[in-house]
Parts: sequence; structure tokens; C-alpha cells
Amino acid sequence: MRYLTVLTALLGAVSAAPSLVYRAKSPFSVADPGTAEDIVITADNTLNGTFHSPNTTIVNKNAIHSRALAGNLPIKLINNFSGNQVNAYISGLDSDNRVVFIAADGSLIYPSSGGSSVPVPINSNIAIPLPSQGNSITVTLPIVLSSARIYFSEGNLQFFMVKIPNGDGLVQPSPTNLSDPSSGINWGFVELTYTNALAVFANISYVDFVGMILSMSLSTKDGSGTQITKGLDSGAVSQICNGLVQQGNADGYPWASLCVANSAGTPIRALSPGDYTAINSAGFQNYWNGYVDQVWNQYTNNPLTINTQSSGNVNCQVSGGTLNCSGDNRGYAKPSAADIWGCNSGPFAIQGGDNAIHVAVVPRLCAAFVRSTLLIAGGNIQPGVSASQYYTVSPTNHYSRLVHQYEVDGRGYAFPYDDVNPDGNENASGVLSSGSPDTLTVSVGAPLS
Ligand SMILES: *[C@@H]1O[C@H](CO)[C@@H](O)[C@H](O)[C@H]1NC(C)=O
Ligand SMILES: *[C@@H]1O[C@H](CO)[C@@H](O)[C@H](O)[C@H]1NC(C)=O
Ligand SMILES: *[C@@H]1O[C@H](CO)[C@@H](O)[C@H](O)[C@H]1NC(C)=O
Ligand SMILES: *[C@@H]1O[C@H](CO)[C@@H](O)[C@H](O)[C@H]1NC(C)=O
Ligand SMILES: *[C@@H]1O[C@H](CO)[C@@H](O)[C@H](O)[C@H]1NC(C)=O
Ligand SMILES: *[C@@H]1O[C@H](CO)[C@@H](O)[C@H](O)[C@H]1NC(C)=O
Ligand SMILES: *[C@@H]1O[C@H](CO)[C@@H](O)[C@H](O)[C@H]1NC(C)=O
Repeated sequence: MRYLTVLTALLGAVSAAPSLVYRAKSPFSVADPGTAEDIVITADNTLNGTFHSPNTTIVNKNAIHSRALAGNLPIKLINNFSGNQVNAYISGLDSDNRVVFIAADGSLIYPSSGGSSVPVPINSNIAIPLPSQGNSITVTLPIVLSSARIYFSEGNLQFFMVKIPNGDGLVQPSPTNLSDPSSGINWGFVELTYTNALAVFANISYVDFVGMILSMSLSTKDGSGTQITKGLDSGAVSQICNGLVQQGNADGYPWASLCVANSAGTPIRALSPGDYTAINSAGFQNYWNGYVDQVWNQYTNNPLTINTQSSGNVNCQVSGGTLNCSGDNRGYAKPSAADIWGCNSGPFAIQGGDNAIHVAVVPRLCAAFVRSTLLIAGGNIQPGVSASQYYTVSPTNHYSRLVHQYEVDGRGYAFPYDDVNPDGNENASGVLSSGSPDTLTVSVGAPLS
């Protein structure tokens, strides 16, 4: 509210120069797309194959069938997007661990880096143009794929190949680097694994960011019916960004900067607070300190019960600054903000040799922090309170709160351990899976009905 008041005052004072006011008050991070030279290769934006060929190879779909490579998964891509031309891109690793794209006609494109250790753009025809809104196209996946993604973008996404020590890697668009060549484009993806046993796992994840609106369903051949993850509402990015602006006005943290706007000032994606750390590592550094101290005080004097859902309940208590759980091979130091956003560093880093209790406590403890359920009624048992009690006190992960608020069916990971849930049937995971898949359908722009 403070922001609105200030804005109104400014608008009144300098109405002769409204564009100045607009620029001064834009609360979002702004995309500033660069070129191939601006690409920084990280573990987060690369898909590393162990194969290198000196040139790009295209295998047409008839040749694939004569080579009898396993796989035959129809993927129906529905355009329900009200903006400009949408492209899809299907990438992954084949059974030889080689980077491959599936073209619109079902042929395979194996792009090459040509031996360059500087990322080179893929110039082959990897884009699958979607027909106009209301229409669909079906592409059949002719081979099994791991670490696959089905990308969607308004306009062209830019992918690059790079020579890596033991093969060729794919450099993918980075949501967090404001100078990534695709930074100013509205894009998103679903994750896909199509196993050697011809099972399908498909995932809509908001762990890193919310971008292009996607929704999916999986029909099956074994009579088990059709699974669906509806995903977010069409207007979710602007709704989430409005919510983040409000949250920032209320608590003074840079929640609004989680949103990345294009050059026109329109928000095109919302980053999770953990991913936002790549842009601004100081913004939320102390955000959780007070809450963590309160939790540590609370569970110095009272036991915290973790229901491992595999090895029964374990009792945990803080002593000497460490939270220890019975039967656990090691204790937990106080987590930092980065530890809570990512659930995989500091006390939440799982190491080789950690026992089954430790491996079960980490996700449940981190989920309890992310959802801020440790100090509310019933919070002494984790997981325990129902989803309606998640994110009801501050501090909390307001990004996750807002993502779930605008999810049509409440499903789709908004942090890495969103599949932690009380015993029973609540499950926030947006994973679809079947050992006997028929057709995978992905809709872009609006939820499937
Ligand atoms: C983004 O790329 C620029 C240009 O190469 C680089 O300086 C910067 O560190 C990168 N930022 C992140 C968050 O990776
Ligand atoms: C892929 O290889 C590059 C170069 O060796 C490395 O920087 C990057 O972290 C690797 N990516 C993954 C996901 O391991
Ligand atoms: C691609 O490289 C292979 C060697 O891996 C070579 O046999 C083939 O002739 C090359 N094709 C073209 C079009 O350069
Ligand atoms: C708690 O864990 C720490 C670190 O693993 C250990 O040093 C300490 O002895 C444990 N305390 C109790 C009471 O088990
Ligand atoms: C789905 O995505 C979440 C978040 O990225 C990840 O933790 C989980 O392992 C994925 N599940 C599957 C089956 O791919
Ligand atoms: C939630 O669903 C996911 C994907 O189907 C599964 O991996 C996970 O174990 C489920 N969690 C619970 C608590 O049932
Ligand atoms: C487009 O989205 C709307 C809203 O979710 C839905 O009612 C409609 O069925 C969708 N159209 C197609 C072709 O899927």
C-alpha cells in the first residue's frame, strides 16, 4: 500500500513527466537480452551429452523405424495462447546419452558443437511451430528419452551447443540470467522422461520459475484412466507478480524483483526466491533469521516429531544449538535463507552415508520451514497440518504461497520438496506417470478443462 501512496503522490507532483515516474517506480527486474557471448555455462543451464560428432546429424523418421529403436509416444500440443506465434521444442538425451531434438515431423536432430568451446547457436530446424489458437499438432516421440523437456515460447527460443570435456552439451535458456539471449521472451517447459521400459514421467515444475502457462494430461492404455495436472491460470504471471508487489509493500523485501519484465515493462516470468539469489544475493539474506531463532527456542523446550512416513515417528530436539533426531546419524544446524529456499544446502544437504532417517527428515523439515508450519497449532508434528494451513504466517515463502494460490488444482511443485505431505491423499506434486502411456497432451496458454 505504501508503494501505491507514493506512486499516487508522485503522479500528482510530476504529472508533466509521467514516463519518468513509470521508469523510476518499475518494481520488476528487467530482461536485457544479450548474445552468445553473454552466455555463462552453469550446471543449471546445460544438458551434457557424452557424445561428440563433428557435424549435425538428422535421422529421418523412416530410418528410425528401420533401425528399430524403441519408442512411440504421441505428444499432442494444444495451442490455447492468446498472444503471438508459439513454438515448441522437444529436447533430451537419447539412450546413448546424446543430445537430441525431435523435429515437427518426428525426425531426430542431433546438433553438434563442431568442437567449439564457445557456445554455437543451433541453426537446424528444431522449432515445432504450433498451429493457431484453438488448434493442436501431434508429434510422435520415436525413441526413449531422458532428461527431456518440452519447451514452449512466444517467438523463437535460442539454444546453443558447446564442446565439453567428454562430449557435446546443450546450453538451454536461463531464466535467471537477465542477459541470456532468450531473456526477453515468454517461455516455459515441462519435464519428461520416457524410459527404456516405455514408461512416462511428466512434470510441471515451478521450483525455479513460472513462465509460459502450461497444462498437461496423460491418457493410458491399461484402463487406469487419464491423469491431469491443470497448472496455472492464464493470467497467473501477472497475478503472482501483483501478489509479490503487495508482499514487498507489506514487508519491505524485494519480492517484486522476483518478476522479470520484458522491454515493454510487462512481467513475463516470476522467479523463485532461490533462483532470484543469482540476481541479488543480499535481498533476502536475513529474511528467515528471526523465525529460525524462534523455532530453535521452541524446540529446545519441546520435542518436534517428524513422521518419516517410512521408519515411523522420530523425536527431535535442539540441544547445544543443534537439532538432533533420534536414530538420525547427524544433527541439523540452523538453516540460512538460501538453505530454506533450495532445501539442498547447509543442514539440508544430504551426504553419502546419511541413514534412512536423515534422508527422511531433510525433506520434511525443509518443507515445514518453507510453509512456515513449525510454530502454528499442530506444527510440532511434521508433516501434519493440512495444506490450508501452509503459508499462513510470515515469514514464509510467499512465491510458493502465490503459485499454489493460482494453481487451478493445487498441483505442481513450488519448491523442491512439495511432494512432502501428511499421510492421506494430499499431494502437491504435479507429476503424471504411467507404465502404459497412450498420449501425453500439453496445452499452452490456458489450463486444460
Ligand atoms: C549472466 O551473464 C553475464 C554476462 O556473461 C554474466 O556477467 C553474469 O554473471 C551472468 N549472471 C548470472 C546470474 O549468471
Ligand atoms: C556440463 O559441462 C559444463 C562444462 O564442463 C559444466 O560447466 C556444467 O556444470 C555441466 N552441467 C551439468 C548439468 O553437469
Ligand atoms: C559428418 O561427420 C561424419 C563423421 O562422423 C562424416 O562421415 C560425414 O561425412 C559428415 N557429414 C557431413 C555432411 O559433413
Ligand atoms: C546432537 O548432534 C550433534 C552433531 O551431530 C552432536 O555433536 C551432539 O552430541 C548431539 N546431541 C545429542 C544430545 O545427541
Ligand atoms: C518433478 O519436479 C520436481 C521439482 O523440480 C523434482 O523435485 C522431482 O524430482 C520431479 N519429479 C519427477 C518424477 O521428475
Ligand atoms: C506424490 O506424488 C509423487 C508423484 O506421483 C510421488 O513421487 C510422491 O511419492 C507422492 N507423495 C506422497 C506423499 O504420496
Ligand atoms: C482453452 O482454455 C480454456 C480455459 O481453460 C478451456 O475452457 C478450453 O477448453 C481450452 N481450449 C482447448 C482447445 O483446449
